[in-house]
Amino acid sequence: MRLNLIVAVCDNPAIPRLPFAFANNHVLSPPMRMRMRPAVPALIAYRHALPRAGLRQVRFNSSVSSPAPQPRESPSPGQLPRTIASLLHPDARVPRHGQQGGSSNTPESVTIHGWIKSIRKMGRICFAHITDGSTATPLQAVLTKTQAAGLSTGSSVRVIGNWVESGAGSAQKHELRAEEVHLMGAADPNTYPLQKKYQSPEFLRSLPHLRSRIPGNSAILQLRSLISSNLTSFFAKKEFVQCYPPIITSSDCEGAGEVFTVASNEKGQEQFFKSPKYLTVSTQLHLEALAAALPRVWTLSPTFRAERSDTYRHLSEFYMLEAEVSFIETLDPLIGLIEDMIRGIVSELSTSRLGQELLELSGEERAQVEARWEGLLRSTRWKRLTYSSAIEVLQKEVQDGKATFQYPLEWGVSLQSEHEKYLAALFDGPVFVTDYPKQIKPFYMLPSATASPDSPTVACFDLLFPTVGELIGGSLREHRYDELLENMKTHGLVPTDGNMDEAGLKWYAELRKWGTVPHGGFGMGFDRLLCYLTAIENIREVVAFPRWVGRCDA
Ligand code: 4AD
Ligand code: MG
Repeated sequence: MRLNLIVAVCDNPAIPRLPFAFANNHVLSPPMRMRMRPAVPALIAYRHALPRAGLRQVRFNSSVSSPAPQPRESPSPGQLPRTIASLLHPDARVPRHGQQGGSSNTPESVTIHGWIKSIRKMGRICFAHITDGSTATPLQAVLTKTQAAGLSTGSSVRVIGNWVESGAGSAQKHELRAEEVHLMGAADPNTYPLQKKYQSPEFLRSLPHLRSRIPGNSAILQLRSLISSNLTSFFAKKEFVQCYPPIITSSDCEGAGEVFTVASNEKGQEQFFKSPKYLTVSTQLHLEALAAALPRVWTLSPTFRAERSDTYRHLSEFYMLEAEVSFIETLDPLIGLIEDMIRGIVSELSTSRLGQELLELSGEERAQVEARWEGLLRSTRWKRLTYSSAIEVLQKEVQDGKATFQYPLEWGVSLQSEHEKYLAALFDGPVFVTDYPKQIKPFYMLPSATASPDSPTVACFDLLFPTVGELIGGSLREHRYDELLENMKTHGLVPTDGNMDEAGLKWYAELRKWGTVPHGGFGMGFDRLLCYLTAIENIREVVAFPRWVGRCDA
């Protein structure tokens, strides 16, 4: 049965300020009237209680001092649909899109779009939780049974209704009282895989096209977006120019032979680019060319490595933040820049709504995530030690019986992930290890200022993070032509006779011929940073469509 309810406050001063209420033109019972005292606030609360009582429509006498719903929001054709975040968090800082919601005290007519997260029937009404990924909190909509017909977890909807304060006892401050519900796309509950129950990361990874609908995963996408926009502002303030170096390249920058070759699939044709080309393993060499024109450049680019490393910290396709700075002669400005950059990111994150949501989503890991953020924000400068000292420290830990390692530890070997993580844990935070042996580093690095001829080292650093290991690698670059040529010969990049004509990196060496300057730069594994900030161990969980050896789904 549909009940029309008319509620009025009597304005006659001779009569006590007790509101009168009528349902189907009958005066409401005294207990109902009692619920409506004192007049206006109770009237509003009462009005919100109506749907729970099975009443579908409420009409207020115009003399009632309760705010009347604002006219129905009708987005003009050029307007973007409103996000749920702008409704649920009207006053919160929403740095990504800058949308702000309207006043929350006045019933407001709104239109929202999203996907049903869950739907629950309670007597004659239904409560639907709707998400659109803009916030981890779902919006609660109150629907009639008729409006809810055909809706199930995963279906997409447009709901038009009044945004009102929820009744007492509701977990949400506001709810959407639906007037119209449009089912945009049904999701058959018999086949839709993301039903409301726990799904393991492995299971979700088998559904890369759907898994971003899980709140934790949409929050990661939001985090990527927030951090990359913060990085953009950070570098802009520091007068860096964001550049877009090529993805298809002629060279294996790191010289590790872990490249994917690019080929067209035309049959019987000569190579598309005449000689083999590769997906970039690092944009550094091209950034160096740009830094010879604009002294501060940076990029956040996709990077590809054909490493057969089936580990929780390696991807075949990942994002690398790279920066290159001209006119610097020591590592100090780079190290300072990196500390400022990461502190800036964490500071923005920890004061953002998204940061708070991530903490809530991290459940049992919450304390750990908070501790990580706080640790990074501490003002003390991050630990620095040379590679030689790091080897000594680690060897001493072994001698004292405090550590055992699988891989050998002696001067000249590469530090393995186990060593890197041990050092960061030992110093309880990020550690810059500088001046590695020349023989284990790529051809482009400048010798250390203090390099000894017997055990030559290069002016480079790795930034090691607890649990993650190497997050950043950087160095000063060899900016002298003759010395670079020698290095290139040693690494087999140039014939021993020094003939550059056939060398793929002739252009790179030429930068040293005309107006060379001392310079340096670094590359940060963007996805690894996300792992650390969220305490998500496996890098495959922070990427929407992860690729690793043997897997490239969707
Ligand atoms: O240490 P890498 O190899 O340094 C370079 O490529 C330099 N050319 C960068 C530069 O100076 N412009 O890589 C930089 C960072 C690593 O420290 C690591 O965090 C990340 O990139 N990284 C990976 N992340 C995910 N999956 C992989 N397979 C990665 N390989 C490197
Ligand atoms: Mg490295």
